Amino acid sequence: ALRAWYLSNCRPLPWRETPSLYGTWLSEVMLQQTRVETGIPKWHAFLKAFPTVQDLALASDDEVMKAWEGLGYYRRAKLLHKAAQRIHEAGEFPSNHDEWLTLPGIGPYTAAAISSIGMEEPVVAVDGNVQRVAARWEGISLAVDTSAGDKAVREVAEAWLDQSHPGDHNQAVMELGALVCTPKNAQCCSCPIAN
Ligand code: ADE
Repeated sequence: ALRAWYLSNCRPLPWRETPSLYGTWLSEVMLQQTRVETGIPKWHAFLKAFPTVQDLALASDDEVMKAWEGLGYYRRAKLLHKAAQRIHEAGEFPSNHDEWLTLPGIGPYTAAAISSIGMEEPVVAVDGNVQRVAARWEGISLAVDTSAGDKAVREVAEAWLDQSHPGDHNQAVMELGALVCTPKNAQCCSCPIAN
Protein backbone atom coordinates (compact mmCIF):
# COMPACT_ATOMS: atom_id res chain seq x y z
CA ALA A 1 0.00 0.00 0.00
CA LEU A 2 2.83 2.37 0.87
CA ARG A 3 4.66 1.66 -2.35
CA ALA A 4 1.54 2.12 -4.49
CA TRP A 5 0.82 5.40 -2.74
CA TYR A 6 4.40 6.59 -3.21
CA LEU A 7 4.53 5.70 -6.90
CA SER A 8 1.46 7.78 -7.67
CA ASN A 9 1.92 10.60 -5.12
CA CYS A 10 5.64 11.28 -4.82
CA ARG A 11 6.88 14.77 -5.55
CA PRO A 12 8.61 15.08 -8.92
CA LEU A 13 11.97 15.96 -7.42
CA PRO A 14 14.67 16.48 -10.08
CA TRP A 15 17.08 13.95 -8.60
CA ARG A 16 14.31 11.36 -8.82
CA GLU A 17 13.51 12.10 -12.45
CA THR A 18 16.98 11.52 -13.88
CA PRO A 19 18.65 9.39 -11.22
CA SER A 20 22.43 9.25 -10.97
CA LEU A 21 24.74 8.40 -8.11
CA TYR A 22 26.36 11.83 -8.24
CA GLY A 23 22.99 13.62 -8.30
CA THR A 24 21.62 11.47 -5.47
CA TRP A 25 24.70 12.07 -3.32
CA LEU A 26 24.51 15.81 -3.93
CA SER A 27 20.78 15.95 -3.13
CA GLU A 28 21.23 14.03 0.11
CA VAL A 29 24.07 16.28 1.30
CA MET A 30 22.04 19.39 0.43
CA LEU A 31 18.93 18.07 2.18
CA GLN A 32 20.84 17.32 5.39
CA GLN A 33 20.13 20.87 6.54
CA THR A 34 18.17 22.48 3.74
CA ARG A 35 14.48 22.33 2.87
CA VAL A 36 13.49 20.54 -0.35
CA GLU A 37 12.08 23.73 -1.94
CA THR A 38 15.32 25.63 -1.32
CA GLY A 39 17.42 22.67 -2.40
CA ILE A 40 15.88 22.19 -5.87
CA PRO A 41 17.22 25.33 -7.62
CA LYS A 42 20.56 25.03 -5.83
CA TRP A 43 20.85 21.41 -6.93
CA HIS A 44 20.31 22.40 -10.60
CA ALA A 45 22.80 25.27 -10.36
CA PHE A 46 25.44 23.17 -8.63
CA LEU A 47 25.22 20.44 -11.28
CA LYS A 48 25.44 23.08 -14.00
CA ALA A 49 28.65 24.42 -12.41
CA PHE A 50 30.08 20.93 -11.81
CA PRO A 51 28.40 18.42 -14.13
CA THR A 52 30.49 15.45 -12.99
CA VAL A 53 32.31 14.35 -9.86
CA GLN A 54 35.58 14.97 -11.74
CA ASP A 55 34.60 18.61 -12.37
CA LEU A 56 33.85 19.00 -8.68
CA ALA A 57 37.10 17.32 -7.61
CA LEU A 58 39.19 19.57 -9.85
CA ALA A 59 37.40 22.83 -8.95
CA SER A 60 39.00 25.32 -6.55
CA ASP A 61 37.73 25.76 -2.99
CA ASP A 62 36.47 29.23 -3.92
CA GLU A 63 34.43 27.94 -6.85
CA VAL A 64 32.81 25.30 -4.68
CA MET A 65 32.03 27.78 -1.87
CA LYS A 66 30.53 30.15 -4.42
CA ALA A 67 28.24 27.44 -5.81
CA TRP A 68 27.16 26.59 -2.24
CA GLU A 69 26.10 30.19 -1.51
CA GLY A 70 22.58 30.39 -0.08
CA LEU A 71 22.69 26.89 1.39
CA GLY A 72 24.59 27.70 4.59
CA TYR A 73 26.50 25.21 6.71
CA TYR A 74 29.54 25.59 4.47
CA ARG A 75 31.30 22.73 6.17
CA ARG A 76 29.09 20.44 4.09
CA ALA A 77 30.52 21.93 0.89
CA LYS A 78 34.09 21.51 2.12
CA LEU A 79 33.47 17.85 2.97
CA LEU A 80 31.63 17.27 -0.31
CA HIS A 81 34.62 18.69 -2.17
CA LYS A 82 37.04 16.48 -0.19
CA ALA A 83 34.90 13.41 -0.88
CA ALA A 84 34.81 14.25 -4.60
CA GLN A 85 38.62 14.39 -4.59
CA ARG A 86 38.79 11.00 -2.90
CA ILE A 87 36.38 9.52 -5.47
CA HIS A 88 38.34 11.11 -8.32
CA GLU A 89 41.61 9.65 -6.97
CA ALA A 90 40.01 6.22 -6.55
CA GLY A 91 38.66 6.44 -10.09
CA GLU A 92 35.21 5.21 -9.07
CA PHE A 93 32.33 5.80 -6.68
CA PRO A 94 32.15 3.70 -3.52
CA SER A 95 30.48 0.41 -4.37
CA ASN A 96 28.42 -0.10 -1.21
CA HIS A 97 27.05 1.44 1.97
CA ASP A 98 30.13 0.73 4.12
CA GLU A 99 32.44 2.36 1.59
CA TRP A 100 30.23 5.47 1.36
CA LEU A 101 30.38 5.72 5.13
CA THR A 102 34.17 6.20 5.02
CA LEU A 103 33.90 9.39 2.94
CA PRO A 104 33.96 12.89 4.49
CA GLY A 105 30.51 14.32 5.20
CA ILE A 106 28.72 10.98 4.95
CA GLY A 107 27.03 9.76 8.15
CA PRO A 108 24.81 6.71 8.67
CA TYR A 109 21.66 8.33 7.24
CA THR A 110 23.35 9.71 4.14
CA ALA A 111 25.29 6.49 3.41
CA ALA A 112 22.06 4.49 3.66
CA ALA A 113 20.10 6.95 1.53
CA ILE A 114 22.71 7.01 -1.25
CA SER A 115 23.29 3.27 -1.34
CA SER A 116 19.60 2.37 -1.25
CA ILE A 117 18.38 5.06 -3.67
CA GLY A 118 21.41 5.12 -5.97
CA MET A 119 22.51 1.48 -5.83
CA GLU A 120 19.46 -0.50 -4.63
CA GLU A 121 21.32 -1.81 -1.58
CA PRO A 122 18.82 -3.06 1.04
CA VAL A 123 19.70 -0.76 3.94
CA VAL A 124 17.27 1.39 5.90
CA ALA A 125 17.73 5.18 5.93
CA VAL A 126 16.40 6.71 9.14
CA ASP A 127 15.87 10.47 9.16
CA GLY A 128 13.52 12.58 11.28
CA ASN A 129 10.54 11.80 9.06
CA VAL A 130 11.14 8.07 9.29
CA GLN A 131 11.56 8.28 13.07
CA ARG A 132 8.22 10.06 13.44
CA VAL A 133 6.33 7.71 11.12
CA ALA A 134 7.73 4.56 12.73
CA ALA A 135 7.21 5.85 16.28
CA ARG A 136 3.57 6.74 15.59
CA TRP A 137 2.87 3.47 13.79
CA GLU A 138 4.24 1.39 16.61
CA GLY A 139 3.08 3.68 19.43
CA ILE A 140 6.61 4.24 20.68
CA SER A 141 6.58 6.99 23.29
CA LEU A 142 10.32 6.95 24.05
CA ALA A 143 11.98 10.12 22.78
CA VAL A 144 13.78 9.41 19.52
CA ASP A 145 16.78 11.44 20.62
CA THR A 146 17.56 8.91 23.36
CA SER A 147 19.48 5.75 22.52
CA ALA A 148 16.58 3.55 23.65
CA GLY A 149 14.12 5.52 21.50
CA ASP A 150 16.41 5.51 18.50
CA LYS A 151 16.93 1.76 18.84
CA ALA A 152 13.21 1.03 19.12
CA VAL A 153 12.38 3.15 16.09
CA ARG A 154 15.23 1.71 14.05
CA GLU A 155 14.01 -1.84 14.73
CA VAL A 156 10.59 -0.94 13.34
CA ALA A 157 12.09 0.77 10.30
CA GLU A 158 14.34 -2.22 9.63
CA ALA A 159 11.50 -4.71 9.92
CA TRP A 160 9.53 -2.65 7.38
CA LEU A 161 12.26 -2.41 4.74
CA ASP A 162 11.09 -3.59 1.33
CA GLN A 163 14.14 -5.65 0.35
CA SER A 164 13.18 -5.66 -3.33
CA HIS A 165 12.77 -1.88 -3.62
CA PRO A 166 14.90 -0.34 -0.87
CA GLY A 167 15.38 3.02 -2.61
CA ASP A 168 11.68 3.56 -3.31
CA HIS A 169 10.83 2.21 0.13
CA ASN A 170 13.09 4.61 2.04
CA GLN A 171 11.84 7.52 -0.01
CA ALA A 172 8.23 6.40 0.46
CA VAL A 173 8.52 6.48 4.26
CA MET A 174 10.21 9.90 4.11
CA GLU A 175 7.56 11.12 1.71
CA LEU A 176 4.76 9.88 3.97
CA GLY A 177 6.36 11.82 6.83
CA ALA A 178 6.79 14.94 4.70
CA LEU A 179 3.32 14.97 3.09
CA VAL A 180 0.86 13.07 5.31
CA CYS A 181 2.32 12.05 8.67
CA THR A 182 3.50 15.60 9.33
CA PRO A 183 4.72 16.83 12.75
CA LYS A 184 1.54 18.90 13.23
CA ASN A 185 -1.95 18.36 11.80
CA ALA A 186 -1.16 14.91 10.42
CA GLN A 187 -3.58 13.85 7.67
CA CYS A 188 -4.49 10.53 9.24
CA CYS A 189 -7.73 10.33 7.20
CA SER A 190 -5.77 10.13 3.97
CA CYS A 191 -2.99 7.91 5.28
CA PRO A 192 -2.33 5.11 2.77
CA ILE A 193 -1.37 2.64 5.51
CA ALA A 194 -3.98 3.51 8.15
CA ASN A 195 -6.10 0.49 7.26
N1 ADE B 1 14.92 14.17 2.39
C1 ADE B 1 16.18 13.81 2.15
N2 ADE B 1 16.27 12.95 1.13
C2 ADE B 1 15.00 12.74 0.70
C3 ADE B 1 14.43 11.96 -0.31
N3 ADE B 1 15.20 11.23 -1.10
N4 ADE B 1 13.11 11.98 -0.43
C4 ADE B 1 12.36 12.75 0.39
N5 ADE B 1 12.83 13.51 1.34
C5 ADE B 1 14.14 13.51 1.51
